[in-house]
Amino acid sequence: VTEPLEISILGAAGRMGRTLIRLLQAQPQRYRLCGALTIAADPLLGKDAGLVAGGEACGVPLVADAGTALAHARVAIDFTLPAATADHLRACASAGIPLVLGTTGLDEALRGTLVATARTLPVLYARNFSVGVTLLTALAQLAAARLDEDYDAEIIEAHHRHKVDAPSGTALALGEAVAQGRGGALATLADWSRHGDTGPRERGHIGFSVIRGGSIVGEHTVLFAADEERLELSHRAVDRSVFARGALRAAVWLAGRQPGLYDMHDVLGLHIAQ
Ligand SMILES: NC(=O)c1ccc[n+]([C@@H]2O[C@H](COP(=O)([O-])OP(=O)(O)OC[C@H]3O[C@@H](n4cnc5c(N)ncnc54)[C@H](O)[C@@H]3O)[C@@H](O)[C@H]2O)c1
Repeated sequence: VTEPLEISILGAAGRMGRTLIRLLQAQPQRYRLCGALTIAADPLLGKDAGLVAGGEACGVPLVADAGTALAHARVAIDFTLPAATADHLRACASAGIPLVLGTTGLDEALRGTLVATARTLPVLYARNFSVGVTLLTALAQLAAARLDEDYDAEIIEAHHRHKVDAPSGTALALGEAVAQGRGGALATLADWSRHGDTGPRERGHIGFSVIRGGSIVGEHTVLFAADEERLELSHRAVDRSVFARGALRAAVWLAGRQPGLYDMHDVLGLHIAQ
């Protein structure tokens, strides 16, 4: 009989954190919550993390010290804010706790810290933990590699009104996949927005359109539009538990791995040849 995997949740009082805790509690044979981190200013500090998540009391209080939250963990899962990412990477590295990181909107400097930390710690970073989106990314790269620049590539995404970064991390990952498929770099190919006197579309560019509204969980389409035909690859997340489920699957996969920077493609063993 294998013991339940001991997991710390960083950002335990957030939307994703609460969803993760409810999922953990639903499978006590597989998972055990052993630490729950929030911010010092959180009025819920000290409250039982299970109750805060809308589930059963579990005897794990919300704490504001990362070392305390990580003390008994075999793996940590972080869905917070980019402002917290460097601290959380440092805390996990010094405690030797592998980290599943889902926070989006990391800048160039944080990506550097991520890569540097992963030299000594197993870190799995995914901007979208859904199996469907991971597959969509691989398919977008495959399509871009096969369809030449007669096919204009556009990425359209829609999210709820609370989302603070745009385009979504997933849309960026899709853009990178298309750029990679074509042997280019997104930074030089992206048309982030269009307004006013834009001139005609540039061949080979990758356009982005962003929709924000209501409670949309997450929708992404990669469009390849040529004169004679259009290919649209679309994914719709209908419940945010899809991300939490994927993050848990990633945590199980990551615990006990060698140091390195991994993503959901590794978890799914997805290696689509171009
Ligand atoms: N990768 C994915 O699949 C995926 C899916 C959904 C959301 N996200 C990302 O996850 C992040 C969180 O999303 P959310 O919807 O749960 O947001 P949220 O605002 O509901 O929750 C974030 C929580 O993090 C807490 N927090 C901030 N700084 C912290 C710190 N230093 N230590 C501990 N806790 C801290 C906040 O108090 C808040 O409770 C966002 O970046 C979002 O884009 C990623």
